[in-house]
Amino acid sequence: MAKRALITGITGQDGSYLADLLLSEGYEVIGLVRRSSTENNTRISHIQEQLTLVSGDLMDEVSLISVLRDHRPQEVYNLAAQSFVQASWTQPVLTGEATALGVTRMLDAIRTVDPEIRFYQASSSEMFGRVRTVPQNEHTEFYPRSPYGVAKVYGHWITVNYRESYNLHASSGILFNHESPRRGLEFVTRKVTNGVARIKAGLSSELRLGNLDAHRDWGYAADYVRAMLAMVQRDTPDDFVIATGETHSVRELCEVAFAAAGLKYEDYVVVDPKFIRPAEVDLLVGDSTKARDVLGWKCEVDFYALIEMMVVSDLNILGA
Ligand code: NAP
Ligand code: GDD
Repeated sequence: MAKRALITGITGQDGSYLADLLLSEGYEVIGLVRRSSTENNTRISHIQEQLTLVSGDLMDEVSLISVLRDHRPQEVYNLAAQSFVQASWTQPVLTGEATALGVTRMLDAIRTVDPEIRFYQASSSEMFGRVRTVPQNEHTEFYPRSPYGVAKVYGHWITVNYRESYNLHASSGILFNHESPRRGLEFVTRKVTNGVARIKAGLSSELRLGNLDAHRDWGYAADYVRAMLAMVQRDTPDDFVIATGETHSVRELCEVAFAAAGLKYEDYVVVDPKFIRPAEVDLLVGDSTKARDVLGWKCEVDFYALIEMMVVSDLNILGA
C-alpha cells in the first residue's frame, strides 16, 4: 500500500519540491493549506490533481488534530512557518506563534492522535546566527540573531524534547539557505534574479538592496528535500546539517546574476538602508559530513548553476 504523508507549508517553495519528490516515490500526499481570501497554489498547480489539499493552520491545534484523525498519515513534514527573517522584527509575536509554538501544536497533535507518526521539523542555519565555529555542524552552539532565529531554536529543541520525552520518531533538518526559481520574491537570491530580469526587460533601472557583505551557503531546494525524505526513512530519528559547504557574499551573488544576463551589477545595484537588518547574520557555511556519511546525501547543483538557472527562469517569465 502507498505511504501517506502530510506536508505543512505545501504552498511554499520547499513544500512544492517535497510534494514533487514524494509523488514520484509513490506516496499519497496530503497538503495542509491555511485559509486565504484568494487561492495561493501557483507552486503546486502542476500537481494539484494528484494532491489532497486540506484546510488547517499551525495556529490552531484543533485543525491539526482533525487533519491527522481524518487522513491518518504515517509521516508529517512540518515545513510551514513565518519564514522571512526581515518580517520577524515587524511581526515578532506572530513569528513566535507560528514558527515556534506551531511546532509544539503539531507534535502534540501527533502524540494525541498517533505517536507512531514519523515527524520532520524544518530547522534552520539561522539558529547559528552569530556563529561560534566555522563551518557549522550539528555540535555548533546556537546564537540566533532575529526573532525568527529565536523561534526556530525553540522549534528545534521542542522537537528534541518530544523525541526524548515521548519517544516520537522526530528528526530535525538544520538546512542552510536553499533557493530555486520557486523562491519567494522577497528573499535576496530571487530578488536579485527577478531584478536582473526586470532591468533586462526595461521594467526597472535599478535594484535596491541591503547588506552586500553578508555571506550565505546557498544550495538548490530540490536537492535539499531529498535529505528530508532520507531522514524520515531512517530507523532512528536524529538531526542533520544540510549545506553545500561553500559560502558566497550577496555582492558575489549580484556579480554572478547580472553577468548571466550580460550586465554589470555596479551599474544598477543601490544600497538602501531600508533593507539593512537590526541585527545581521554575517557568515554561514555548513559542514554536512554527517548527512553525507549517514544519509548518503549530497547536493548536485552548485551556486553558479543555481543562480544561472534562476536568472534564466526569471528572464523567461518576463520574456526578456
Ligand atoms: P516559504 O516559501 O515561505 O513557505 C512557507 C509555507 O508555510 C507556506 O506554504 C505558507 O503558507 C505556510 N504557512 C505560514 N504560516 C502558516 C500557518 N500559520 N499555518 C499553516 N501554514 C503556514 O518557506 P520555504 O522556503 O519553503 O521554507 C520551508 C520551511 O523551511 C520553513 O519552515 C522555513 O522556515 C524553513 N527553512 C527554510 C530555508 C530556506 O532557505 N528556504 C532554510 C532553513 C529552514 P502560505 O502560502 O499561505 O503563505
Ligand atoms: N531579503 C533580502 N533583501 N536580503 C538582503 C537584501 C535584500 O534586499 N540585501 C541584502 N540582503 C542580505 C540579508 O541581510 C541577509 O544577510 C542575506 O541577504 C540573506 O537574506 P534572505 O535571502 O532574506 O535569507 P535569510 O538568510 O535571512 O533567511 C533565509 O535562510 C534561512 C536559513 O539560513 C530564509 O529562507 C529563512 O527561512 C531560512 O531559515
